[in-house]
Amino acid sequence: MHNSRIRVKVPASTANLGPGFDALGMALDLYAWIDMAVAEETTIELIGDQMKGLPTDKTNLVYKVAQMVFDAAGVSHPELSIAMYSDIPLTRGLGSSASAIVGALAGANALIGDKLTLQELFQIATRLEKHPDNVGASLFGGLVVAFWDGERAEYVRLEPDAHLEALVAIPAFQLSTEKARGVLPQQLSLREAVYNVGHASVLVAALATGNLGMIRHAMKDALHQPHRAALIPGMTEILEQADRHGALGAALSGAGPTMLALVDTRSDRKDELEAFLKSTFSRHGIEAKTLWLKPASAGVTTEPLAPGAPDLKAMLAVQGEVRA
Ligand code: HSE
Repeated sequence: MHNSRIRVKVPASTANLGPGFDALGMALDLYAWIDMAVAEETTIELIGDQMKGLPTDKTNLVYKVAQMVFDAAGVSHPELSIAMYSDIPLTRGLGSSASAIVGALAGANALIGDKLTLQELFQIATRLEKHPDNVGASLFGGLVVAFWDGERAEYVRLEPDAHLEALVAIPAFQLSTEKARGVLPQQLSLREAVYNVGHASVLVAALATGNLGMIRHAMKDALHQPHRAALIPGMTEILEQADRHGALGAALSGAGPTMLALVDTRSDRKDELEAFLKSTFSRHGIEAKTLWLKPASAGVTTEPLAPGAPDLKAMLAVQGEVRA
């Protein structure tokens, strides 16, 4: 088992979906890959431009998280060969750090014969991220409804409606989660709390039952979006008007700055919606790229590679899995 190389494929995620702050996450079909093997000496290869500037020594997040798995399982593998590639843009609100954490946890666990359960990996991931929404979605796939009480995370996974897809508009600028959490107030009024409990509850029920028409009413938030709007020019307009341009509802994706619109796959207004998102950002001087994404039903997956199997770079080139 220890000689095998493990290949990990882990989906991106969108968190909050509006009112479900730190509670809702949905996996999206945009991926990161990690190859991991026990080695004589640690090497970390970052493939592609996306991860330029990330450390390639033992301070690398994937390396450090892998060591946490080995510690928790009581084994020792201080030297690892790691290669990674990601189509998930960094610090844009699509769960790139959660995907790295989950990918590292799953890869390291597979290397040692899955000594830890998925539940245990979820607990470690949530403790690292401090909220369960992105990591839950990347780990379990689908739509994850979760909470963390500071000690333990609990979740329920739902299968997103088959007619649901997402249009994301990804601004060219980065916004750190730390900064986007820093603008949030420490206290809310009872009225705001009731607003969010109601909207988040109805949103989950609508998504669980396929009541897509309810999304535009429920996908509203009084907890974080109003406070984050100042950081993302054009956001308020998108939130207020996206449903008039064919969206089922719109939200800030995670801590932003990416905006997410949920869309019925059968809609004939997709071009109109895409143009609306782009032109709104552009009018505010923000360059943004749009992507159509489907909810990813599968969470993180791992496969052992046979000796001599193509390395990650070769696999990506051959399979053409990579997004343009
Ligand atoms: N729920 C988190 C937030 C997701 O909105 O800050 C960001 O990682």
